[in-house]
Amino acid sequence: MNYLKRRNFLKLSGLGVLPAILPTVTVNASANRQPKAAVNQTVSFNDDGVFYEPAEYIAKLQEINTANPIEMDFYGGGGAVAKLCEKFADLTGKPACIYMPSGTMANQLAISVLSGDNAKVFVQETSHIYRDEGDSAQTVFNKRLIPVAPGEAHFTLEQLKEAVDYHNKGEVFKSGIGTVAIENPVRRCDGKYVPFDEIKKISAWCSEKGYKLHMDGARVFLAMAFNGISLKEYSTYFDTVYVSLYKYLGAAGGAVLCGDKETIGHMEHLIKVHGGTAFSNWSNAAMALHTLNGLETRLKQTAEKADALFKRLNQLQGVKIASIPNGSNIFNLELANIDAKVFNKTMQEKYSINIHARNGSSQIRVNETLLRQDNIRIEKAFADALKAAAKS
Ligand SMILES: Cc1ncc(COP(=O)(O)O)c(C=O)c1O
Repeated sequence: MNYLKRRNFLKLSGLGVLPAILPTVTVNASANRQPKAAVNQTVSFNDDGVFYEPAEYIAKLQEINTANPIEMDFYGGGGAVAKLCEKFADLTGKPACIYMPSGTMANQLAISVLSGDNAKVFVQETSHIYRDEGDSAQTVFNKRLIPVAPGEAHFTLEQLKEAVDYHNKGEVFKSGIGTVAIENPVRRCDGKYVPFDEIKKISAWCSEKGYKLHMDGARVFLAMAFNGISLKEYSTYFDTVYVSLYKYLGAAGGAVLCGDKETIGHMEHLIKVHGGTAFSNWSNAAMALHTLNGLETRLKQTAEKADALFKRLNQLQGVKIASIPNGSNIFNLELANIDAKVFNKTMQEKYSINIHARNGSSQIRVNETLLRQDNIRIEKAFADALKAAAKS
């Protein structure tokens, strides 16, 4: 039974509630009983990358290990983790890289160490650091986050200068300015990236003033696929760079932080002090390393394929897909006069395409799963699902 039929059979027969191993993994009972990953043909318009269900994850690790035995790390040192760090040091052009248990810890430790005794840290008001890290900068690290450009994806150098000026002039008992942090691309702003020229200007000004610059590049590869700026080019303008391992690199969690030897040299102890040192991290590292292999090429192909696909889909009546200015992998989707439930169900059950479209406006994300089916088939799926879901 091929993958698509198998999925439908399980759904229709109610067996879909059996362990997730069934639809995605076949077990070779005769040979060595190792799980084998079936070829997954699902295209997802809901995610930033490939997401594995537990059984798929195990099978993928098995495949990686069979091709090239995974080496263990020991408390985040050696083995697959060391290889991953070498790879990221190379990709960023930074002399040092360390594995972090989470992006939140990478951001917080980076701005804390870079700032030293200086209390003020300037961030986008829309950033993860400002909005989504539990106020840890203020409550744990004694830093005062100063939000710039409310509601906007990025601040310009002028906006940053104004914010710095305002605080410098308006405070009698001044505390120092430590770090400026830039999230790129910006999760809360539809994945928009920060214009590279603005980054360059901000970086030059920060160097002149002696302020450090940190990049929350959790999803930086997604921006790179759409604007062609490499991680190394970005990294030139920052003191530290964090990249997530699980948003599109396939790992179950984790992050890396890259920077100079001195800054990164403080991290091992700080991770331990904050309770983040895990005994084994090789599974995340091996997954991320595997996904990184050829990722930039695949993402570039994905961006080109999406462009060609959306041009075709925009010819269909009732469909409008539009890119977002300075956008990365998120697109606006308008569907007219449809029963969205029927549309999504048809896409999923008949074509293995996951999408959460709504009647009217919604958003879709492109990721490397787009490479799993050809554009003609995806176009046919849209046409068919639109027909099935048309409101009379
Ligand atoms: C832009 C950005 N930065 C940082 C993080 C934090 O990552 P973690 O969940 O690994 O702490 C996230 C997570 O959603 C994020 O989107």
